Amino acid sequence: MLNFQLYNPTNYLFGKGQIAKLPELIPANTKVLLTYGGGSIKKNGIYDQVMTALKGYEIVEFSGIEPNPKYETLMKAVEIIREQKIGFVLAVGGGSVIDGTKFISAAVNCETEPSDILHRTAEVGKNTIPFGTVLTLPATGSEMNSGGVVTILATQEKLSFGSPELFPQFSICDPEVIISLPRRQLENGVVDAYMHVLEQYMTTKHDALLQDRIAEGVLQTLIEIGPSVVENPSDYTLASNFMWSCTMALNGLLNKGVPVDWSTHMIGHELTALYNIDHARTLAIVAPSLYTVMFETKKDKLAQYGRRVFDLQGTDESVAREAIVKTEEFFQKMGMKTKLSENTENYDDTAKFVADRFTERGWTGLGEAKNIGVDQVKEILEMSY
Ligand code: NZQ
Ligand code: ZN
Repeated sequence: MLNFQLYNPTNYLFGKGQIAKLPELIPANTKVLLTYGGGSIKKNGIYDQVMTALKGYEIVEFSGIEPNPKYETLMKAVEIIREQKIGFVLAVGGGSVIDGTKFISAAVNCETEPSDILHRTAEVGKNTIPFGTVLTLPATGSEMNSGGVVTILATQEKLSFGSPELFPQFSICDPEVIISLPRRQLENGVVDAYMHVLEQYMTTKHDALLQDRIAEGVLQTLIEIGPSVVENPSDYTLASNFMWSCTMALNGLLNKGVPVDWSTHMIGHELTALYNIDHARTLAIVAPSLYTVMFETKKDKLAQYGRRVFDLQGTDESVAREAIVKTEEFFQKMGMKTKLSENTENYDDTAKFVADRFTERGWTGLGEAKNIGVDQVKEILEMSY
């Protein structure tokens, strides 16, 4: 097993009625910036629950954080915090609102241009603004991790950032919030979480035995509940297992002591930046081709996954191949269209464009073995057309 450090300071509150605990979590007499998205929280009652819980607090609202949050939008919130004495930011939303809030928290006291944080030419300092979250969409794990992804509209770049300073102080995760989610977002959540596990699992064989078993447990749970939760989001058993699986998929536990990949995400982010395809849907497009192109590197693990998760039998080679097919079938069952051409038009130049971008950024060796170079990225994307 590789050496690791496990640090996660997020106070995670799970279950029905937990929003009422907000006053125990945010210091009294603090001016709060409430960040949210396009208004779903006003229709489903979550906004009212938050406002009731925060009675007595001085609250400034910042709405309009869009899916795949934009740098340009977030900088307006940064200005508000710089002008007013905001002591705490409360993010109420899905991954986009939470990621956006992480960026805001990091940007306020950034000594250079905050876009430097996204280009990784500036570190996130220690003087971030404290924030907590009320999760409304299980998918990203952002509620219990310290990373985020922000898009710079001006350059059409979707870039990730992270720092140990950017864990939420707390996250309130009430599974009942998923009742109002459109089916598309529920489907996205299942597939995003599934791919988070695979990015930390589908690498090379290693000897961190427990990590593999936990990962396989999350995958099997998502396969078990995914198709039903999108039909019945008001079923609390399904909703609660879904929400907890999504958090467990990316709260920093699965990657301990093991090699990780993340190249499906890196390539997928480009497809969102170029064509505005939902994050999870980009992963369902990229992963089957990536596992096919990188078959030799990942064959052993694909075979283990095929046997343990899908109960396949046969030679390593045949089980590994079949496991890729089963994965794509699961994505399709979850409502994904797994070809780029089914998600956008005018995609012909995508492979070259993305490969050139990776070259410009110096991203020449992705994946656990750093052997996903620009030629492989091109091949993966061409295969996904
Ligand atoms: O904006 P509102 O009106 O709130 O509507 C949202 C949005 O349109 C809606 N929604 C959220 N909760 C709802 C609801 N509608 C009804 N009822 C509710 N309870 O859902 C839409 C999508 O929301 P969004 O936050 O964009 O979805 P998601 O949670 O999937 O987040 C995606 C973003 O997270 C990033 C992605 O790249 C993408 O930008 N990721 C963040 C990660 C992280 N921080 O660790 C890891 C992931 O791999 C991912 O990259
Ligand atoms: Zn993801």
